[in-house]
Amino acid sequence: MAGPDPRRQAVETLLEVLPARGEGASLRLALASATGSLEDRDRGLFMDLCFGVCRNFRLLEHWLEAQLDRPLRNKARPVRLAILCGLHELWFSERAPHAVVNAWPDICRKLQCPWATGLVNAVLRKATSTDATAVRAGLAPAVAWSLPDWLWKQWQQDWPEQAEDMARASATAPPMTLRFDRRRLDRAGALAMLEEAGIHATPGRLSPWSLYLEKSLPVQQLPGFADGLFSVQDEAAQLPVEQIEVPAGGRILDACAAPGGKTGQIAERFPGAELVALERDAGRLERVRENMERLDAEATLLAGDATRPEQWWDGEPFDAILLDAPCSATGILRRQPDSKWHRRASDIRELAGLQLRMVGALWPLIRPGGALVYATCSALAQENEQVVRAFLGDHPDASEDTHAPGPANAARTGVQLLPQTGGQDGFYFARLHRKRN
Ligand SMILES: C[S@@+](CC[C@H](N)C(=O)[O-])C[C@H]1O[C@@H](n2cnc3c(N)ncnc32)[C@H](O)[C@@H]1O
Repeated sequence: MAGPDPRRQAVETLLEVLPARGEGASLRLALASATGSLEDRDRGLFMDLCFGVCRNFRLLEHWLEAQLDRPLRNKARPVRLAILCGLHELWFSERAPHAVVNAWPDICRKLQCPWATGLVNAVLRKATSTDATAVRAGLAPAVAWSLPDWLWKQWQQDWPEQAEDMARASATAPPMTLRFDRRRLDRAGALAMLEEAGIHATPGRLSPWSLYLEKSLPVQQLPGFADGLFSVQDEAAQLPVEQIEVPAGGRILDACAAPGGKTGQIAERFPGAELVALERDAGRLERVRENMERLDAEATLLAGDATRPEQWWDGEPFDAILLDAPCSATGILRRQPDSKWHRRASDIRELAGLQLRMVGALWPLIRPGGALVYATCSALAQENEQVVRAFLGDHPDASEDTHAPGPANAARTGVQLLPQTGGQDGFYFARLHRKRN
């Protein structure tokens, strides 16, 4: 029996993530519950529609609104999302336009909206006579590059020269980037192994362990993936772990560990260290366990709250702590595009408060002479250098001594990388050294 139609499934998933009213579900969770029922060959189209519509939501909506004589009612949400999916396919995919125009009226019937077939057909046919570049021309950047107004304003304030490039990068599909396991491969060997499997890749410039794939593919097609030779990790996300320094056999805490991307990287970098991985969400800790098993690496896994060390710390100091803190994800919007529609400006103040509390709570766990690496995937100064400056202002026993991995640094305290089209994600990190008494 054929599995569910990927286009129809995409509309149903987007209804959960981008509802007409109320809070939307997280795209990551909605995808996880939907992809299981799809056939392998349909998964690519389904994912492309879900990510693409979230990435370009505001642009697609803007164009659609201009075509309608009367606004669509809230109860016609499935039709609206079906049209947005069709527009995404026409303007951002290689699929044949006539096949796209023909597919969506049928999906409307399947969605119990037969009344909309004529409308969908007419709008999509009209869309074939234009493209995204023409539609974007003359539009305000927040509409053209699909950002909420509050975020666009904040980026203009924080990064006046880079804001438009950041917006463009955030609306564009990201590259697939790998980290190879330095314990078992060097760069030339990793590239040769991929090449032999017909996979073209180029090395990154900032992280010596990063490889950019020419084309994204399912991880199962990567040679040695099941054995941990390669992990999927953005190049910028690979940099915070490289700031850690510990003596042989040292003790390291990864304080916000799930799903375990950086836990695995720490284990590859310091195979002899004692590694503790802490995560508040016990369910997500399972992802860390799976990751470590795949990499053939070990860590002590703890479910606990980083702001309450008295509940889980054994009193033994750490030589280094990585705090990859929960944040707005504004540096990785192309990978987590629902965040821009779910976050509010007021969330940022709350997040910055939590981040500062986390650094303060973990600081006493570091031995004098050790260091805490603070990291986020945020592209907002309020969650990044402002948190670090506030912390340094209150802690005379702390000094900042981050090593910049290259010339591109937008911050004065720590390192701020901004999202680049075809390049790395936006990421921030700062190394905070605990002075000896
Ligand atoms: C940015 S993610 C970490 C990503 C991870 N370091 C990696 O590289 O794969 C932040 C994580 O912090 C967890 N978290 C949030 N609040 C926490 C808290 N108070 N204590 C510990 N973990 C927390 C979240 O559940 C989430 O898994």
